[in-house]
Amino acid sequence: MSTINNSSNQIPFLDLVTPHIELQSELTDVFHQVLRTAGFVGGAMVEEFEKSFAEFCGAKHAIAVNSGTDALRFALVAAGVKHGDVVITVPHTFIATTEAISQAGAQPEFVDIDSRKAAGVSGTHVLSRWLRQVG
Ligand SMILES: Cc1ncc(COP(=O)(O)O)c(C=O)c1O
Repeated sequence: MSTINNSSNQIPFLDLVTPHIELQSELTDVFHQVLRTAGFVGGAMVEEFEKSFAEFCGAKHAIAVNSGTDALRFALVAAGVKHGDVVITVPHTFIATTEAISQAGAQPEFVDIDSRKAAGVSGTHVLSRWLRQVG
């Protein structure tokens, strides 16, 4: 699915092509460098990425992982999420969001926009329900 040649004037649900076209030249250079060095996992290029990403984030360290799913899972575990916890999230997201919560041993609980209040979020009743249970 792409916005390129989108003659129907419909907004695509997901456009994974356009952002990559903008970066095509930069990405192609990096891909070639990876192929030339066989540095697919770890190595100098990954360390260089981790260093520059940490600087970009204003953090002391950054650790590259293999996927967004693992990044979410490790972040949850690093934040102290453990078996039996409840993690509140939104239903309008990729499956990896709830997958990472489950992999961390926790249970996802969805909150969504409150259609009666337009911008309000109906998570307060979820929070108060869980706080009643733990408190
Ligand atoms: C919002 C969101 N979170 C997590 C992921 C998971 O990323 P990965 O496929 O690298 O595990 C995706 C993947 O498309 C995503 O769209």
